[in-house]
Amino acid sequence: MCGIVGYVGVSSNPVEVVIEGLKQLEYRGYDSAGFAVLRNSKVELYKEVGRISNLEEKIKGIDFSDIEGIAIGHTRWATHGGITVPNTHPHISNNGKIVLVHNGVIENYADLKELLLRKGYTFYSQTDTEVIANLIEEHMKEGNSLEDAVILSVQELSGTFGVVLFYADEPDKIIAIRKGSPIVIGIGDNENIVASDINAIVKHTKNVVYLDDGEIAIVKVDGIKTISFSGKNIKKDVFVIDWEVEEMDKKGYPHYMLKEIFEQPTAIENCIRGRLLEDEGYVKLGGISKLEGIIHKVKKFTFIGCGTAYHAGMIGKYLMENIGWMPAEVDFASEFRYRNPIVSQRDVVVAISQSGETMDTLEALREAKRKGAITMGIINVVGSTIARETGMGIYIHAGVEIGVASTKAFTNMLVALVMLSVMVGRKKKLGIFEGREIVSSLKELPELVEYTLQKTNKVTQELAKKFSNYRNFIYLGRGYNYPVALEGALKLKEISYIHAEGYSAGEMKHGPIALIDENMPVVVIATKHSVYDKVVSNIQEVKARHGKVIAIVNENDTTVSKIADYTIEVPYVIEPLSPIINVIPLQLFAYYVASTKGLDVDKPRNLAKSVTVE
Ligand code: G6P
Repeated sequence: MCGIVGYVGVSSNPVEVVIEGLKQLEYRGYDSAGFAVLRNSKVELYKEVGRISNLEEKIKGIDFSDIEGIAIGHTRWATHGGITVPNTHPHISNNGKIVLVHNGVIENYADLKELLLRKGYTFYSQTDTEVIANLIEEHMKEGNSLEDAVILSVQELSGTFGVVLFYADEPDKIIAIRKGSPIVIGIGDNENIVASDINAIVKHTKNVVYLDDGEIAIVKVDGIKTISFSGKNIKKDVFVIDWEVEEMDKKGYPHYMLKEIFEQPTAIENCIRGRLLEDEGYVKLGGISKLEGIIHKVKKFTFIGCGTAYHAGMIGKYLMENIGWMPAEVDFASEFRYRNPIVSQRDVVVAISQSGETMDTLEALREAKRKGAITMGIINVVGSTIARETGMGIYIHAGVEIGVASTKAFTNMLVALVMLSVMVGRKKKLGIFEGREIVSSLKELPELVEYTLQKTNKVTQELAKKFSNYRNFIYLGRGYNYPVALEGALKLKEISYIHAEGYSAGEMKHGPIALIDENMPVVVIATKHSVYDKVVSNIQEVKARHGKVIAIVNENDTTVSKIADYTIEVPYVIEPLSPIINVIPLQLFAYYVASTKGLDVDKPRNLAKSVTVE
């Protein structure tokens, strides 16, 4: 997905900030990159297809020391028009003065292009973006100021757009526009940075302003003015990001994903800090105190999310039913938003999202709000759109997650869901002793996760070498660990491109069993919990058909090790927390299979970290 960085200021080299910022957005996926600067009142454009390093190669030796303190850059993920230099952003208006970058899709660009062609404009690209620059030029020709021309133009655009632009004759400002595509502004010292994602900003400042849909920001070195699409002034809050710059470094790990897997103990520590009340067997969740006060009125929880966040929501349903004594359901955000869900004012809809920007989750949340539901978020990125629109929630404090395949955000989502269920349960039937057991297990979790990482790291690596050439995998689990099987399969397919299917172990005999023969590896989660005996029977069914079984078992398990071909031992933990431990070897296994195959683990093909389109 595309990335935007814009700079206005006097403290840094604009080209360096933009290029560095774009590199921080590389993980989002792109196929060309470009930037624009201003020198002697003239816009200069630099564009290249392929990696940002190609662009860097192209500008090697060019002296940028006398440019103005302004620049905008973009990584493009082709939609309208092929991967060519003319289609690469920035795009410039016919008079050579208005230059802009754009994320999103202008749905009525063909009509606008037609109109502008009739007025004598020429188009040099096949993009939907170029019309925006010429539309603004046209409105300025009619006698409007830059600001007014922008306002008039956005009113004519339909679709989604995050746009950042500057105008050669007013080099003291960049203008950022948001409708549907995220835009965030970092407030620095004598410099301000605009980007589509805070990753491009954190190196410079932790103070950020998020634009909401329908807002325009005029960003100068000494301040920001925010107005609505109709020109009214809007006051914005400044959020402080809790990420550390060092987190953006690989710290000696070959990939971000491996680093993030190993960061899970610290991430969990950060998620539970100050939130556990051991004596009371209770939790303190400041962000949902409003909900705590009205919990006796609530009839049902619905969890919504996409990808890994959806799997967390599935486990949330089990937690809410077992610990919270509360009816709960879960749905893909993309299904929820279109299926006319029955939601009342006494229902809580929980949007789960690492980025807080996933379009489907955001739209599902808006649909829930329209229906009058109480909404909350379980979110990683502080101040992100979903976090702001839910109004209340639990930040998971996993820190920056760069690997496209989510790992530490998943386990932290689960920790947050356990705490939420304890809060709900203790207001209902969950007794103090049961509450204490869960809370003290949560407290010990960081250490147990660390132990699990150390214990399973080598064995998963060895198994990955043995299995990296298989073309298909089945993952099985039951109860709390059925969603873990889905997550394990998702991790493997995302980064290794091996077909992997997650299934409820009990359902296997109703279909997937037909696939099992000596060429089918079956990964089974068989830790000693309520459905252990049932899972052992399922393993027997696989073995009877000569499938190759890799089982996740508790230490000292003797039953499964006799029948499985390979076992991976993990420590025992109470059942509601078992997904957090059991998913770890599955993350490592997927990682090592993909790295054994020499694949780009952090940037798997066709995937994006944050999907801000439908
Ligand atoms: C994309 C990512 C997944 C992620 C999903 C939801 O598909 O590739 O890893 O689980 O979006 O993202 P979110 O930011 O809402 O958790």
